[in-house]
Amino acid sequence: MSGQNTEKQILAMVLLLVLSVASLGAYTWFDNGRRTEARSEILTKDAERASWTFANNCRECHGNDGRGSESDASLVGPALNTPNNTYAFLTDNQGQLEALQNEFRYTITCGRNGTPMPPWSIDQGGSLDGFKIDNLVTLITTNAGNSWEKAVEHAVHLDEVTIENLHTALEAAEATLKASGWFADLDAARGAVARTEAADTDLNDLREAVAAAEESGEGLQEAQDALTAYEKDYTALVLAAVTMRTSDDSAAVADAQATFMGASDVQQDVAMNRAWLKVAADFLTAEDNLVTAEERFAAGLPVPTPATQVTSNTCGQTSAELDDWLSTHTGSS
Ligand code: HEC
Repeated sequence: MSGQNTEKQILAMVLLLVLSVASLGAYTWFDNGRRTEARSEILTKDAERASWTFANNCRECHGNDGRGSESDASLVGPALNTPNNTYAFLTDNQGQLEALQNEFRYTITCGRNGTPMPPWSIDQGGSLDGFKIDNLVTLITTNAGNSWEKAVEHAVHLDEVTIENLHTALEAAEATLKASGWFADLDAARGAVARTEAADTDLNDLREAVAAAEESGEGLQEAQDALTAYEKDYTALVLAAVTMRTSDDSAAVADAQATFMGASDVQQDVAMNRAWLKVAADFLTAEDNLVTAEERFAAGLPVPTPATQVTSNTCGQTSAELDDWLSTHTGSS
């Protein structure tokens, strides 16, 4: 009797043990799933935040969708949105992923000496804190939540606003041109400026003095300072001339006339033609800016044109140190 009971008890215990192991396993599996879900939610939020940072700071070189020079040769930055950069994440290769993330975090923080890639961390004179840089690294190495698509949406929105502003600027420049009664002929305006400047002996003497000082290497600073001081008066006269020709604010026009009448006849002639040149050039520039922006927008390119200034001495590195670093890292451009 008692033997049988013991057997039953043992069986029950074994069953219980099996059940508890199984439920622990099931729970672990369930909890892992939950954790993975939570992790991917965090990654998606981080990458979405970064899509704004990217649209605001990076796309002029790396492209609206992060495909950079791979998508268009006019872009100076390499592709960041490439399968290579998300491969480690998608294949769960944690070591490789961390190495890549460290490399990109370092590059974004410090920039790359001798290339146009600037340093972004606040410590290096940039505009991004560590949190924003980490989010960018997440975007580039995971594309969680398909956030590159969000970056493109932000880019389109930003460029639409820019184009609207360029329309407004062109309208203003056109109104000024119309009010002035001048026509937008740069060659004619330049010719008129040159003709009247030829009669300004003070201006010509000062220019000749600068040219002579450049040749002899002596007294260049003083000669340049004297010319700059003389040109400063012209800046005020040109502004006065523009106001006189284009403003409908009578008090401002009266002020401008008082300034203008204080100058010699020769200076008045020069200032008036320079004012023509300025009004014409402002109009044509506004027109060019809008046309270029609309062309780039239509082509899916970032409206701000790429900067190509070369970065140097980032994070205090010498060029040699940076060369060393680059030679041990793959994927640089
Ligand atoms: C003025 C242009 C410019 C801007 C703006 C710019 N980059 Fe770059 N970036 C570059 C260039 C050029 C390189 C390639 C450098 C090289 O030759 O090693 C580069 C390289 C990189 C790399 C390394 C890519 C690789 O495969 O090794 C990362 C990551 C990067 N940039 C991220 C960013 C981020 C994020 C931003 C915005 C916060 C940004 N860049 C803004 C020009 C730019």
